[in-house]
Amino acid sequence: MAPLLEVRNLTVAFDTPSGTVHAVNDVSYTLEEGETLGIVGESGSGKSVHALSMVGLIASPPGRIVGGEVLFRGRNLLTLSKRDLFEVRGREIGFVFQDPMTSLNPVLTIERQIAEPLRRHFGMSAAAARARVVELLELVGIPDAARRATQYPHEFSGGMRQRVMIAIGISCNPKLLIADEATTALDVTVQAQILDLVRDLKRRIGTTVIWITHDMGVVAGLADTVQVMYGGRIMERGPVRPVFHDPRSAYTWGLLKSLPHGGKRGINRLYQIPGTPPDMSKPPVGDPFAPRNPFATPRCFEQVPPLVDVVGSEPGHKVAAWYDLKADLAKQEVQP
Ligand SMILES: Nc1ncnc2c1ncn2[C@@H]1O[C@H](COP(=O)(O)OP(=O)(O)O)[C@@H](O)[C@H]1O
Ligand SMILES: [Mg+2]
Repeated sequence: MAPLLEVRNLTVAFDTPSGTVHAVNDVSYTLEEGETLGIVGESGSGKSVHALSMVGLIASPPGRIVGGEVLFRGRNLLTLSKRDLFEVRGREIGFVFQDPMTSLNPVLTIERQIAEPLRRHFGMSAAAARARVVELLELVGIPDAARRATQYPHEFSGGMRQRVMIAIGISCNPKLLIADEATTALDVTVQAQILDLVRDLKRRIGTTVIWITHDMGVVAGLADTVQVMYGGRIMERGPVRPVFHDPRSAYTWGLLKSLPHGGKRGINRLYQIPGTPPDMSKPPVGDPFAPRNPFATPRCFEQVPPLVDVVGSEPGHKVAAWYDLKADLAKQEVQP
């Protein structure tokens, strides 16, 4: 069966007064129906721009798709008309973004905001849309849904507003749900509840999910596949288990070490990857992580490494690295 989504060589840039920002560089991957893909990486890695550009939500100018294809159910989204893309977004691909306070309209009731796309895309009657809104609010765990539907965003807590955003994201029973930092602003308990909710939704309606976050911990419990991005590129990708337990990119290794309780020796002090993310208006020539990578070799500064299968790991585990992290770490172990 063909994958649900196939991204080929996606490259996106912004033309700014201070030069061209190379936000997404030659990103290729496939996503199978029913799969949950977690995309992780520090702020500025190109995670959001990659997702927004796939569905025509990047402001242009300054944004520009330099090249690539995004095949969704066989159609290239990058060449669809505005009108067709609008249809795809409303009916087949749902979104949940961070910060529902700015995404929800403060002067419209929750019901109006959820019902409007249903009426527009599916031609639902007012009564049918209202019933569906209540059903959706119940589905995302909002108690007293019929009454809550008539309220305004400011009457909801942050966690409840985020649930409303998820209700909007899944309202059309999307084939694909893209969530971008959807739980980042929430406290840990609410975050856990929302992740439970997503797992439950997947079980019930079988949605394929792209979950974007800067938090490796969130991905561990939710995703089937992890994709680590840095400098607008995929640094490592694979099933959750090998990527977390046998990382081959020094960047992934650094992200894992900076997790609380990370590190095999029970190090409790939080590790931080030294240095700062690259300025993508002056992208490095080779591996973008090389300047921060203690294991970098001269070649890392000269040539971009291709994303290739990791020898001796699980199928689907891929890394972009000229150095051999496993061997380098083994050498470190024997040193005093
Ligand atoms: N509208 C814009 N104009 C110029 N540069 C942008 C714009 N939006 C994003 N960028 C740049 O694109 C790069 C990737 O950003 P983004 O995808 O938002 O990262 P992430 O989501 O991983 O934090 C960053 O260098 C960011 O500064
Ligand atoms: Mg982002």
